[in-house]
Amino acid sequence: MLKTFTFNLPTRIEFGNGQIKNLGGYVRELNGTKIMILTDKGIRASGIVNKVTDILEQKEINYIIYDNIKPNPRDQDCMEAYFLAQKEHVDVLIGLGGGSSMDTAKAVGVLLTHGGNISDWYGLNILIQPITPLICIPTTAGTGSEITFFSVITDTSTKLKMNILDYRVAPKIALLDPELTLTLPPAITASTGMDALTHAIEAYTCNLSEPITDALALYAIDVIIKNLSEAVNNGGNLEARRNMLAGSLIAGIAFGNSDVGGVHCMAEALGGLYDTPHGVANSMLLPYVFEYNIPSNVEKHAMVAKLLGVLPIGKTNEEIANEGVIKLRELANEVGIPKMKDLQNIKVEDFNYLAEGATQNVSASSNPRITTKEDYFELFIKAYEGK
Ligand SMILES: [Fe+2]
Repeated sequence: MLKTFTFNLPTRIEFGNGQIKNLGGYVRELNGTKIMILTDKGIRASGIVNKVTDILEQKEINYIIYDNIKPNPRDQDCMEAYFLAQKEHVDVLIGLGGGSSMDTAKAVGVLLTHGGNISDWYGLNILIQPITPLICIPTTAGTGSEITFFSVITDTSTKLKMNILDYRVAPKIALLDPELTLTLPPAITASTGMDALTHAIEAYTCNLSEPITDALALYAIDVIIKNLSEAVNNGGNLEARRNMLAGSLIAGIAFGNSDVGGVHCMAEALGGLYDTPHGVANSMLLPYVFEYNIPSNVEKHAMVAKLLGVLPIGKTNEEIANEGVIKLRELANEVGIPKMKDLQNIKVEDFNYLAEGATQNVSASSNPRITTKEDYFELFIKAYEGK
């Protein structure tokens, strides 16, 4: 029986090679007179920020830059950027970079129109008005934050990742220019690409999946699988970059409207405690949670496995799905994702705390199979041991 669902896409998408040159027009459309570009020092060093500021200067648009954003974006940086934006009377925000830049830009947009402390606005649909108009420009093909209604911020006092979940944080415009991703180093291409794949798989298999998100997620899985290795090994291949950016965007639309599941619950606990890059954490955990979840819907997991390259002839769906687990491990190896054991700072003694964190995650109830704290603990052990 078809369950009821709501599908929402409040963000306008502008996608294409060289599309960044139209940024000035989009800022004008939003009546921007003072812009804040939120980014990180790596993006600045890559020359992408200069490309953007040249375009703004050509249109005589005033801007300031906040480039102090770190991976797993922190509450303190949101507040620092907010105070600066408030002082400078910023009226349009640009999130330029990966998920951290875009999520911070969303948080600053919330603060500019709601005030208070960022911790006041963690939760589901508690915002009371629109946020400051926001244009998101992803420079990685992974997060999907340019299209989602979430901002994930690390609370530095508890080291937990907190969520602002509200349609109002959706950017006005997602500006996706594959040329901006051409210089992304292989390791970041790999980890962010595996994050996008995780979004698509969890969107498809989680409890809140529905027919539209299923269609989007299956397309995203397919296009990511066909292009990830090429984008990692031959970063200058614009076609592969374009396909990865489309894949991560479409996965973002899918999981934004359904949800993610156990992989993200565990990865966010890891990222909160150790600052593990989000895509690396997802990638290390994905095969184990996928395997655990197979009994919840064997057909769907077999479908994913077929897209991963498992040949189905003469096999049951269960066998196909189980071979999918191997394919996920092989893919992570192929694109050079490290093993959990190789990350020096991860300690087994912390797994109890991490398992508790995973159960408290906002997406915990969306995992398709009931997962207790003990189950999460076992999954952390399995991923750590590489079994
Ligand atoms: Fe993610």
